[in-house]
Amino acid sequence: MGQILIVDDEKSIRTTLKIFLEREGYVVDTAENTVVALDLFDQNAYDLVLTDIIMPKVTGVELLEKLRHRAVDVPVIIMTGEPTVDTAITAVKAGAFDYVRKPLTKAILLKVVNEAMHVRGLMEHKKRLEEENQIYQHHLEAVVSKRTEALVKTIQSTISVMSCMMELRDPYTAGHQRKVGNMAATIAREIGMTDRVIDGIRVTGYLHDIGKIAVPLEILIKPSKLTRLEFDMVKEHTNSGRLLLQNIGLSIPVAEVVWQHHERIDGSGYPRGLKKEQILMESSILAVADVVEAMTSHRPYRPGLGLETALKEIETKRGREFEADVVDACLTLFRRKDYQIEDQFVHTRLFYE
Ligand SMILES: [Fe+2]
Repeated sequence: MGQILIVDDEKSIRTTLKIFLEREGYVVDTAENTVVALDLFDQNAYDLVLTDIIMPKVTGVELLEKLRHRAVDVPVIIMTGEPTVDTAITAVKAGAFDYVRKPLTKAILLKVVNEAMHVRGLMEHKKRLEEENQIYQHHLEAVVSKRTEALVKTIQSTISVMSCMMELRDPYTAGHQRKVGNMAATIAREIGMTDRVIDGIRVTGYLHDIGKIAVPLEILIKPSKLTRLEFDMVKEHTNSGRLLLQNIGLSIPVAEVVWQHHERIDGSGYPRGLKKEQILMESSILAVADVVEAMTSHRPYRPGLGLETALKEIETKRGREFEADVVDACLTLFRRKDYQIEDQFVHTRLFYE
C-alpha cells in the first residue's frame, strides 16, 4: 500500500492518525518532532509525510524545506490548527502537496492521503519509465556503435580483398594500388583537402585499377610493347572499374573518380578525352600518383625508371597534362619533405555524418 510518516508534537493526534491509516493497510511511523522525523527519513523510504505546521523548535514548513534540500521528492501534506492565508501560501511555496485543517475527520484524512498516494504512484511510474528509457537508449547506442564498427571492419576487409585480388592476378603490379592510394591521400592532404576527401581518395586509390580484372592476363604481363588493339583493351579497365564500383557510396564519387583516373587536362587522356574543368580534382590527384608510382616500379616490359625520372615527367607535363597544383604538391612531398612511398593498407573512417 505504502509507507507514511506522521510528524506531530501531540501524541493523541499521532496515535489517532496512525490507527486510521493502518486500518487502511498503510505502514505508518510517527515522529514527535522534526529531528526524529529526519532520522527516520534516513532509514526508510517513505511515500508520504503528514506533518503538523506548528511544533516546538522546527516547524512543519522548515521540515518540508529540509526534505526538499535532500532532494526528497516525497509528497508532504501540511496540517494546521489555525489556518491563515499566509501559512497556506508559505506551505505551498515550500512545495507542500496539500494543506489541511485540524482536527481532521477520517474521511478527509483518507481523501487527501489516497490522492497523494495516487499522485506518488504516477510520479514513481514516470520516473521508472524515464530510467528504463535511459537504459534502453544507452543500450541502443552501444548496439548501433558496435554494429557500425563491425560494418566498417567488414567493408575495410572487402576493400583490402578486392585490392589484393588484382595483385594475385598480376603480381608484377604488387602493391601498386596501395602505394597509389597512400600517395594520393598524402598529396590531397598537402593540397589542404578535408579528411573525408583524403580518406575517400585513399580508398579509391586502393581500387582504382580493379577494372583490369576484365583485361586478359597475357596482355597485362606481356613483356613487350602492346599492339594498338591490346592497348585499347587495357584502356577498357577504366570503364570496367566504373561499372564494378558504381554502387559504392563513400565520401567521394568513387566510380566517377576511377573512370577519370587516366584523363589528362589537355584532353589527351582516356576513355573520354575529358578536359581540365571536366576532370574531378580527386582524379587529377590519382593520375599524378599513378604515373609516379608506375614509373618508379618495374614492369614486365621495362625496369623501374627511378624516382627522379618520374618526378621530371610530371614536372614537364605540369599544367599541360597534369593539374599544376597537384604536381606542385607531389614535388614538394618528394623533394622537400622526403616522402617515401608506403605499401601498407591504411584503414580509413569510410563513413562521415
Ligand atoms: Fe589505371
